[in-house]
Formats: sequence, C-alpha cells, structure tokens
Amino acid sequence: MQVRRCAVAWLEPREVSSFELDDLMTGGTGVVSRLAWFVHAPHLPAAVEVDAAHVPLLGALGAIDWMSRTDLDVTFGGEAVDALLASGLLIAKSEGDGAQADDAFRAAGWHPSSAVAHMIARWQGIDGPQGMADTDTDTNEGLLRQHGTPPPHVRPGDENYAGIALPRVERDDFDALLDTRATCRNYDTEAHVPLATFSQLMARVFGARGMGHPADNFHVYKRTSPSGGALHPTECWLIVQRVEGIAHGLYRYRIDTHALEPVTPAIAPPQPGDVGTQLLGDAASRAWTTDELRAFARIAVAGQDFFADAPVLCVLAPRFHRNFWKYRNHSKAYRVTVLDAGHLSQTLQLCATQAGLGPFVTGAINEVDIERAFGMTGYLESPMVVCGFGARAAKLVTSEFDPNRRVWPRD
Ligand SMILES: Cc1cc2nc3c(=O)[nH]c(=O)nc-3n(C[C@H](O)[C@H](O)[C@H](O)COP(=O)(O)O)c2cc1C
Repeated sequence: MQVRRCAVAWLEPREVSSFELDDLMTGGTGVVSRLAWFVHAPHLPAAVEVDAAHVPLLGALGAIDWMSRTDLDVTFGGEAVDALLASGLLIAKSEGDGAQADDAFRAAGWHPSSAVAHMIARWQGIDGPQGMADTDTDTNEGLLRQHGTPPPHVRPGDENYAGIALPRVERDDFDALLDTRATCRNYDTEAHVPLATFSQLMARVFGARGMGHPADNFHVYKRTSPSGGALHPTECWLIVQRVEGIAHGLYRYRIDTHALEPVTPAIAPPQPGDVGTQLLGDAASRAWTTDELRAFARIAVAGQDFFADAPVLCVLAPRFHRNFWKYRNHSKAYRVTVLDAGHLSQTLQLCATQAGLGPFVTGAINEVDIERAFGMTGYLESPMVVCGFGARAAKLVTSEFDPNRRVWPRD
C-alpha cells in the first residue's frame, strides 16, 4: 500500500480540562487537566486528537510523494500507521472517503494557514447570547467588570494635535440615507416583505449588473459591490420566512437568472429551543413548518432571537475556489473572500435602508449547522456572515445604536 500525509496537518499542543468526580472526592478541585496533541487538517470536519507516540510519524512522510507503508510499519509500527490512516491524517492511494476529501481539498487551492483558520473558526450548536451571559459579558457593566475599560475611542496621543481642518460640506439626501442605517434588532414578526421590494433588493445587492469576458471560457459578473479579482465567488443562500408570494423555506439566489432555487434541507426539521441541527440520516426530508424554519434561523444566527425574527436572512457563502483559481495558494486570498462578503453586506445594509427596511449583519453564526442544512462542504463553500432585512417593529425592545434618533424618534 502507498501512503502519504494529507495536504495540510497542523499540530496543536492543547491542555484539555475535564470534570472528574473522583478527583473531587479525594480532595482535589474536580478539574483535571491533561496535555494532548490535536491535528488540524482542513479536509476533515474537526480537529483530530492523536496519540503523542504517533506524532513523529506525521513528520516522517510528506504530503506530495507516496511511500510504501511497509517501510513505515518497520520504523513506527503497524498500529501507529493504522491509527493515522483511520483518522484521515494519512491517506492511502485511491482509497476511501479520506482520499476523496483530501483530493478535493487540494484542488481548491487554499493557502494552508487560511484553511486552518477558516475551519477552526466555524461554530456548531453555539448559543452566543447564552455564552455571553455565562461569562458575564452580555452587558456593558459585565464587559467592564471582566475586561476593564476598553482601549480609548481615539488613538492615544490624538488629543494633543487636531490635524489640518477639513471643510464641512452641506448635508444632502445621501447623508440622510446614510444616517438612517442602523442595525435592526426589532423586527415586526407579522409583516411580509413585498415581492417587488425583495426582488429589487436581490437585484441591487446580489444581481448581475453586467458581464465581462476577459478571455475564452472566462466570464465575470459586474455587481454593485467590488470583488477581489472581479471573480464574485460569493453566493447568497436564503432563509425566507415572510416574503409575499414566496413560500417560506430555504433557497439559493440565482445570479444567472435572477431567480430563487428552492433547497431541500439536508437536516432533520429543527424544533424551537434547539441549539444545533441533526443530520437526516436515513429519514426522508419533508417541507418545514414556519416554526421549524424559525428554529433553524435561530440556530443559524447562534441563538440571537432578535435577528432570527427577520423575514429574510441571507447567508453569504463564497465558493472559495472561484477566487483561489486565480489567487492559488495565496496568503491574502482568503482575506479577500471575507472582505467581498463584507462589501455585499454593506450594500445590502444601504439598499434595505433606502427601501425603508431595517437591515442587520452578524458574524456570530453556526457555520457547520448552516452548511449541513444547505448541503455545503466547509472547505469548498462556507458561510462568512449572515445578513437580512425586514420591516421594523413599532416598539423598540432590544437595543439599537441610534444616538441621533434618526430611526427611533424621541417619545
Ligand atoms: C461583521 C459584523 C458582525 C456583527 N455581528 C453582530 C452580532 O453578532 N450581533 C449583533 O447584535 N450585532 C452584530 N453586528 C452589528 C454591530 O453590533 C453594530 O454594527 C454596532 O453595534 C454599531 O451599530 P450600527 O450598525 O447600528 O451602527 C455586527 C456587525 C458587523 C459589521
């Protein structure tokens, strides 16, 4: 058998703590720590713990050239080779899912450190507000208690020099529009977005405004936001809860046809109160109720109910290889895909505001749960951010940042 290491394997020495009743009963604190080796291999769904005795084996063979397993068995023992093969960190030539995933990962063109950073940062089944409450960081007072005062709002030293004064230019309508943008955390849970408004927003933010053909078989769309390399790798996947004339459900926006493509969820219908998702297994998928869709929206935005109430949630997910095709193995390429998503989100914030709707964006998302539902493979395409829009509620319940009262007039 010929074997090699998977494309990327980064080692982390980690201190793992657990609660042990025996330790407590014998006078200890109950918290027992041990040191362990974890390997981050982005073609795998999560980091893998490896036996310390097996770590040297990972350094004994490369990620390019194939080696005879017999030679490794002699030096490291068959058990070590078997264990690393089973975990997917060693790849046997043309064998099994591990080899397929490793090949697919290699073909994507990731820079290794970006791939590791992306995969590590993904959440699954996290409740953000609960986590902040547990750590006493869900209020400003708690933040000050836990972290002390924040770094100053202006750069230290700025108070001694005002700089060269710039002229004040008279405000115009565009200033008025910019000033009414505020992250919405209070949606009207009954209101539907009119179909024409929804369609116009999709066209303005995610739609094609033109096309270029730089070379044979190389086509690029023009959008209202910029994109590194003009490649526009970011797709908009939708959780549609309340749009007039569109059945609630999961969709993908089609830039080529300005249409919605329904997505059949690849997870079991989530239930209210769930923090994570379950794969369907052998069960057949079925249409979700509005409550189940709302439960999924809540999981997607990591328990932030105020965002889960939005009539439309847009999951911005790059097809990484579309960018990495040009910027192959490039240390800046991943950052560019992140920034692309940010630009699209900002365009959405402004377009929704102009339409009289409240916009939001959140980075606190359960990427893995979203990937499962929409059928994405994290190292090929993956959510960067979730944004959305809808009509504001009549009453402010959850705080919004509107110091000049442009959105919520004074009582
Ligand atoms: C990348 C990004 C991620 C954000 N994530 C969250 C979030 O997880 N939860 C939240 O309530 N607001 C989130 N926000 C919104 C900010 O809290 C908000 O922009 C900030 O409070 C300033 O308010 P404004 O947008 O109304 O000016 C995020 C904003 C950005 C740009």
